[in-house]
Amino acid sequence: MNRRHFFRSALAAGAAATGATVAAGETRVAGVVRPRQDGEPGLFSPLRIRGVTLRNRIAMSPMCQYSSEDGFANDWHLAHHAARAVGGAGLLIAEATGIVPEGRITPNCLGVWKDEHVPALKRVTDFVTSHGAVPGIQLAHAGVKASRHRPFHPQRGRYVPEDEGGWLPVGPSARRYREDGPVPRELSVAEIRDVVAAFASAAARSVAAGFQVVELHFAHGYLGHSFLTPLMNERTDAYGGSFENRTRFLLESVRAVRAVIADDVPLFVRFSCTDWVEGGWTLEDSVRAARLVKEEGVDLIDCSTGGATRSADIPVGPDYQVRFAAGIREEAGIATGAVGLITEPAQAEAIIVDGRADLVLMGRELLRDPHWPHRAWVEVGGDTPPPIAREYAWALRETRR
Ligand SMILES: Cc1cc2nc3c(=O)[nH]c(=O)nc-3n(C[C@H](O)[C@H](O)[C@H](O)COP(=O)(O)O)c2cc1C
Repeated sequence: MNRRHFFRSALAAGAAATGATVAAGETRVAGVVRPRQDGEPGLFSPLRIRGVTLRNRIAMSPMCQYSSEDGFANDWHLAHHAARAVGGAGLLIAEATGIVPEGRITPNCLGVWKDEHVPALKRVTDFVTSHGAVPGIQLAHAGVKASRHRPFHPQRGRYVPEDEGGWLPVGPSARRYREDGPVPRELSVAEIRDVVAAFASAAARSVAAGFQVVELHFAHGYLGHSFLTPLMNERTDAYGGSFENRTRFLLESVRAVRAVIADDVPLFVRFSCTDWVEGGWTLEDSVRAARLVKEEGVDLIDCSTGGATRSADIPVGPDYQVRFAAGIREEAGIATGAVGLITEPAQAEAIIVDGRADLVLMGRELLRDPHWPHRAWVEVGGDTPPPIAREYAWALRETRR
């Protein structure tokens, strides 16, 4: 039996358990096989955005590692990204990275607020690029949710006081997110402009550090999202009140970043597409905002949800956020990324084949298994060669079609 035949037989044996017959190029969705039409993209179809081509539609979702000192990347960041690059993801988006020191969630968050950060980040992006993945970065300001203890600190999530290395958080309004800690300080208009400028200089530095995709964090109750949502923005000036005013900081940040990155660099924005509570930011708001940022040169909306209030009742389950990616893609005519409890190859393949999103972002499942993309390729097949480093591929030839 040659290797190709072996693979097809193994796949068919797996399919027998679900009562389905599977051939290469077909998609298994909950035991049902739906053939991909000619030209229809699947999980393993390349995705070209501006000057960048991803080898497949699997992205590592940004995940804080809380492992930096003074914002610097180190061996941990190299290991974290290297494993997923070798494991075959198309795009790796580095964690929420502070554009200013006080924009970090914890004192241990990654940063890109000074030129000295660039060489250590470049070490990470060089490795990622050399193994066929595209390095991206999420630029962030934590706003009123800043200056917290990291999750593996005994006081996880609690406010870090100024005399212990913390700082006074700032936001659109002097409104606490949780009861502990001081009341945050409301940003002045001049300070808002400084933050916009900090997004731009962080983006320029990120590109210099080898990142090929820039994502702006406007989700999860951090500064960007807190301007958008009426639940956190109580301003009465040009940055609060109407939808137009609440999206002003978003549009100014997008314009400032787009102006400093080259035309061939893709720009993503992560939204919390709903606050999941009455009176909060909604899918309809996200569609309107997506149309606006598309006009300003944003290429993809990364569709998450929640984070503005602790009282939201979120119906967490497989695919629970995918409908937001599908809705924005359909209504705003912009590429989207789906994220949230996407764990199975057939599930991910179906999201792409059905046209519900252009990219699947995965967080925890890629922590569990950095080689998930290769496993998924074995299961659902696709247009591209197996996403696995040549150093391993030669030894694992029996998994090639
Ligand atoms: C350890 C960890 C850190 C995270 N850090 C970030 C982050 O820096 N930025 C962000 O937008 N989301 C962050 N998230 C959310 C993930 O990007 C993702 O949206 C979420 O985990 C749902 O995807 P999953 O079910 O595949 O894990 C984090 C999640 C985890 C588990």
